[in-house]
Amino acid sequence: MEVVIKRDYGQMSKAAAQLVVDVLNTKPNAVLGMATGSTPLGLYQELVRLHQAGQVDFSRVTTFNLDEYVGLPANHPQSYHYFMHEHFFQHVNIPRHNINIPSGTTSNYPAFCQWYERRIEECGGIDLQILGIGSDGHIAFNEPGSSLSSRTRLKTLSKQTIDDNARFFDAREDVPVYAITMGVGTILDARKLVLVASGKTKAKAIAQAVEGPVTSMVTASALQLHRDASVLVDEEAAAGLTMRDYYEFIYAAKPAAPRA
Ligand code: F6R
Repeated sequence: MEVVIKRDYGQMSKAAAQLVVDVLNTKPNAVLGMATGSTPLGLYQELVRLHQAGQVDFSRVTTFNLDEYVGLPANHPQSYHYFMHEHFFQHVNIPRHNINIPSGTTSNYPAFCQWYERRIEECGGIDLQILGIGSDGHIAFNEPGSSLSSRTRLKTLSKQTIDDNARFFDAREDVPVYAITMGVGTILDARKLVLVASGKTKAKAIAQAVEGPVTSMVTASALQLHRDASVLVDEEAAAGLTMRDYYEFIYAAKPAAPRA
């Protein structure tokens, strides 16, 4: 696992965006896995900026989002459909039919989940998956106890996640209790993983995910099983890491990515 520590949120977001651009430079029709939440906002802003400056083209890109709240229609301001449209899709040139987001309103969740998995496969698998991390160590909505080989399915949100996400809703009671989410196994199938984390509320989860044991109680620790995972953190999120000097030494010696 590569650990990259950046001075602040802005630097971290730029470095993460660069990893996406590196993939698109070698594979313009890449399949990207998208995350929502407050952390990847800076990454999306940077990708939009680069696109508007003519430096990155998304016209052949396909996307798959990690998750969606059950019960929220696409036009609900807190739905992940809405989030992605607002913060990313409306600003770049990804063909509409190439955008895939789990449905929060399907009448048949098991069938939808199977279809979503099949669709990822049909598109050739995910080349780069963007991830955030919950303060309970989750990736996507794979809450503590989720099987490390889980696939796309319905998941009950943990009390911690409901508390954390209440900031986006008018009242805690409005936070949906269920989500449809890619599984940890689905995520591990992506060819490259890029996890971003910022702020001191993430320091413990990052330390557990990067330096703790691989455990379903911290599903982000499953990144240790992946052969191309990058964890990008700012100073505050890095605060609990004990091997910091080593990560910085490795990163400083890293050669630049090749361009197509
Ligand atoms: C959202 C997702 C979640 C978030 C995580 C952190 O698509 O997959 O795992 O990445 O809850 O959210 P923020 O960035 O809001 O702290």
